[in-house]
Amino acid sequence: MKLRTNRASPFARKARILTRETGLAGRVEEIETTVSPVAPNETLARENPLVKIPALVTDAGELLYDSDVICEYLDTLHAGRKLFPASGPQRFTALRRQALTDGILEAAVLCRYEMAVRPEALRWKDWIEGQKRKILGGLDALEAESGTWDDEFDIGQIGAACVCGYLDFRFADWNWRAGRPRLAAWFERAQQRPSVKETAPPS
Ligand code: BEZ
Repeated sequence: MKLRTNRASPFARKARILTRETGLAGRVEEIETTVSPVAPNETLARENPLVKIPALVTDAGELLYDSDVICEYLDTLHAGRKLFPASGPQRFTALRRQALTDGILEAAVLCRYEMAVRPEALRWKDWIEGQKRKILGGLDALEAESGTWDDEFDIGQIGAACVCGYLDFRFADWNWRAGRPRLAAWFERAQQRPSVKETAPPS
């Protein structure tokens, strides 16, 4: 399988953590791919018409996107502990956490583009503040539930690790840990996992 990825992308990181947690890493070739919200990329567009990463080409040649679909597909390919719980309340808690962490990441990536890619004269401060409120509200929700995350590490925690890592990478000055001691302590522990260490954004 071929996974189009980028070391800076928190969405690609979800899939990269999952392959390492499930023992699938040796079956997935990661292809580092440059992406930009404004530049065309015909190669990537052939694999994902939305020109976003991650994009997966399966061994059968099927094209899969986005990160949620790729992660759930990869989770069907191994016999170990499932990172998408199969059924019941556990499944829907994990899916809700995936939705929460995806939403935080979408807002954070939009902020990044607004602050780093959009020409300065066109930047819209109120819009950035609106996205930032979503991010901070989402972090508060993670803080409220992360105190009980002991050894639990499913798609919800994978998303949370990608959120914390991306905020450290792109928005270190926002100091997301302030007032969120449980999430901060949980992320310290999560960062000890080889899957999280190996997929850290570039320094
Ligand atoms: C980034 O550089 O922050 C980034 C790269 C790829 C996808 C999303 C974000």
